[in-house]
Amino acid sequence: MKIIGFNASPRNNGNTAWTINKILEGANAHGAKTSLFNTSELVIKPCRGCLGCHSDKNAHGCVINDDMQKLYAALEESAAMVLGSPIYMGQMSGQTKVFIDRLFAQISPRFSPHYKEKNAGKKLILVFTQGNPKLDMFQTYYDYTKRMFEILEFDVKEVLVVGGTRVEQARDKAELPPLLKKIGASLVLD
Ligand SMILES: Cc1cc2nc3c(=O)[nH]c(=O)nc-3n(C[C@H](O)[C@H](O)[C@H](O)COP(=O)(O)O)c2cc1C
Repeated sequence: MKIIGFNASPRNNGNTAWTINKILEGANAHGAKTSLFNTSELVIKPCRGCLGCHSDKNAHGCVINDDMQKLYAALEESAAMVLGSPIYMGQMSGQTKVFIDRLFAQISPRFSPHYKEKNAGKKLILVFTQGNPKLDMFQTYYDYTKRMFEILEFDVKEVLVVGGTRVEQARDKAELPPLLKKIGASLVLD
């Protein structure tokens, strides 16, 4: 089983990357083949809204030839994705939003026969890290984002919020590694 991780924090060694990595480690321990992509190492341009992805000529793929093409390919052959974002001003990072907009070329909200349905049923773990220690501080936003991915037909298994992470504090929380590895294992076992 292949699992893709996408770290949409600009910091490669920050809280979000650390949390995603622990989840992937848990999946790895149960035989999954995992790969992690860091947004800071990729050029992912914003969606142009050109609808080129709908034209038959482009076989429904995104016409923008940048590093998102690598992610489309990796996602296509993966059974699950761990998508992590830091909370910036009460929402996902801009990098996360750009990535999600580009999924428009691939996923199927079922309201148009032109969409591909490649990601339908893929397991998804959403990870948010936030400086604020109050885990339900942005609950309506987390619920909304979960619902949005469900409409896009991902099988959202978990919305994990790691709070109180102003600097590098995720890795200082002793309770986290076992929990994160368990979540990773569940992607393979459940
Ligand atoms: C531009 C910016 C905006 C932020 N906005 C919030 C916020 O609104 N609420 C919050 O709890 N934390 C906020 N934070 C803190 C980050 O969400 C937190 O430190 C997160 O764990 C950083 O993830 P990283 O280490 O993976 O980069 C913000 C941080 C930055 C840099």
